[in-house]
Amino acid sequence: MKRRALTGIQPSGTPHVGNWLGAIEPALALSESCEGYYFIASYHALTTSRDPELLRQRILDVAATWLALGLDPTKTVLWTQQDVPEVTELAWILSCMASKGLLDKAHAFKDAVTKGKKFVSAGLYTYPILMAADILAFDSDLVPVGRDQKQHVEMARDMAQRLNHVYGELLKLPEPLIQDSVAVVPGTDGQKMSKSYSNTVPLFLPPKKLRKVLMSIKTDSKTLEEAKDPDTCTVFALYKLFATAAQQQDLAARYRQGGLGYGHAKQELFVLMNDRLASPRDRYNELMARPDDIRDILTDGALRARVTARATLDRVRGGVGL
Ligand code: ADP
Ligand code: TRP
Repeated sequence: MKRRALTGIQPSGTPHVGNWLGAIEPALALSESCEGYYFIASYHALTTSRDPELLRQRILDVAATWLALGLDPTKTVLWTQQDVPEVTELAWILSCMASKGLLDKAHAFKDAVTKGKKFVSAGLYTYPILMAADILAFDSDLVPVGRDQKQHVEMARDMAQRLNHVYGELLKLPEPLIQDSVAVVPGTDGQKMSKSYSNTVPLFLPPKKLRKVLMSIKTDSKTLEEAKDPDTCTVFALYKLFATAAQQQDLAARYRQGGLGYGHAKQELFVLMNDRLASPRDRYNELMARPDDIRDILTDGALRARVTARATLDRVRGGVGL
């Protein structure tokens, strides 16, 4: 039997290159050898979203992004979290298996507290429980995610182990799958690319706007003539993600030689990225013009996802005495 790979993306902003290379692309590659279960983490997004129209739009946006980048909905199950209520039911049962000490350690919550956020919701605090339910409801074997999500997958394992320890083997233990070569895609300021840092390269910008974003990448202030270090440069770090080995060697040599301005390197990055994104961008624009078709795909995916989640939930409910 094929192993099952599951991952989710929050509809909390415009999908960016970090989401693609860190989550979507590895997940799509995996769906060749595994059964792909990919969903839009709409309930997780409610920890930050406060605008209903925007949330609705972003759910479609993330779905169209998966489809434009190559997800085949006849082979891979694609749904949105609120359409599978079994997951939130399982989350309650898991919340009785998660210690407060475990949740206190979760990065998202700790960050909010450290930053002195005025409103830290219970939803943000229990976020790892809902994520554990997402993973465990579908008997997932592998969870392809960026490095920042590894802790959450480990917490899901912790909750599953505790439940299994008390009630017998009811839940399958998942493994995180982290692609080291793209573990952290840098943003335009050199930090991890993230919607929360306003440093993203959105995936489907028109070419002119894409170029403008790439031209805004922060670099040091070396002059055109000076030799430069490719290994500490954000432009080069992004270039590496799109270039062949030969292209990387060539650009690295020109960095070290001097005589190459950052503007030139950025232009070369733009050409590569724009080439790679041109046809997905067309597909994305076609899909976004037909939102009802996207909704039909999500509804069909949810029906299929619910069959699996129902079976797990029945097993767990029975196992715990309900
Ligand atoms: P963001 O940080 O922009 O809010 P999300 O938390 O919604 O992104 O991430 C969705 C998925 O994309 C997760 O699996 C996450 O690990 C991955 N991801 C996000 N940003 C990056 C990045 N810069 N590099 C690698 N993977 C990333
Ligand atoms: N927490 C993940 C993120 O912010 C999104 C997510 C929710 C997820 N549930 C999941 C990822 C289950 C993998 C598996 O990126």
